[in-house]
Amino acid sequence: QKTWRLGVAGLGTVGSGLLQFLSERPDFAPAGGKAVITGVSARSKSRPRPVDISGYAWFDDAVQLALSPETDVFVELVGGSDGPAKAAVEAALKAGKPVVTANKALIAEHGAELAALAEAAGVPLLFEAAVMGGTPAVKMLREAMVGDDVASVAGILNGTCNYILSEMEASGRSFADVLGDAQRMGYAEADPTMDVGGFDAAHKVSILAALAFGCAPTFAAAEIEGISQIELLDIKLAKDLGYRIRLIASADRSEEGVAVRVHPSLVPLGHPLAETRGALNALFIEGRRIGRIFIQGPGAGSGPTAAAVAADIADVMTGASRPVFQAPAGKLRPFVAVAPTRRVGK
Ligand code: HSE
Repeated sequence: QKTWRLGVAGLGTVGSGLLQFLSERPDFAPAGGKAVITGVSARSKSRPRPVDISGYAWFDDAVQLALSPETDVFVELVGGSDGPAKAAVEAALKAGKPVVTANKALIAEHGAELAALAEAAGVPLLFEAAVMGGTPAVKMLREAMVGDDVASVAGILNGTCNYILSEMEASGRSFADVLGDAQRMGYAEADPTMDVGGFDAAHKVSILAALAFGCAPTFAAAEIEGISQIELLDIKLAKDLGYRIRLIASADRSEEGVAVRVHPSLVPLGHPLAETRGALNALFIEGRRIGRIFIQGPGAGSGPTAAAVAADIADVMTGASRPVFQAPAGKLRPFVAVAPTRRVGK
């Protein structure tokens, strides 16, 4: 039985969830292998956590953990597009180690260069947990792409914003009040501006655009507006008119290029996106041959996101291999941005 030694950097919501998953699932043995955490790292060793970390080697530095001879697979759950997460992922890939990450900012901003490192080393770089948490959007899009050309993707990709909009409507409580709930439930980012400002959804849809259209993920091209200006009155007036406000992230391909945008939209009541409530996420994929696919599921939170990380670890162990994006990194089409057209209520 082959043992895969995991180095897990980052012990926040997702990292703790992964440790919990592996302790609850001794039967987790993809391809007959065994996954064992050997080392961990985080900003603080002593911070109270729901899981016991005393049985693992402690590293102050994520790069040292990535490079440790005891680390076969590097699992990056630190977050942030630069800093220790990027340095450690680069170090692991350059050392020829497979990387599993939940870091949407990192992939949205540096995905192409990291894909090039992974492919040069011949190792996987997997990021299912970066988009829609426990709902397998990345794997589904990859599969759909094998036999189709995707024309557009659109949906709800931020659980915190959807939770806030749903709860404001259901309870009549203020924005700040329900944001506090979302933070307590482990949905929100460490800096919730990433959520309510629309940046997190933009990171995710930039990744989906790259997978769907075979281009380099290009977060800088996204047009972004968040929900921090939305008031209870807006929600009520929208409903009186037969709509619900949702933060919609979309990417469309045309002859001219790719448009990526995130903004609050009026969605007609009864539409699947209007009926997606709480921290759920939902996504439409429009393929030229397959037609329309719709998925909905948990997009945030410890358990669902850790399950997606575990699924990627399983892919490493079973040896599933594909280019990181649709085409090998050197053959990715350049991202040509076109100015988005605002389509309210679509
Ligand atoms: N803060 C993110 C969200 C977590 O609310 O969707 C999952 O990526």
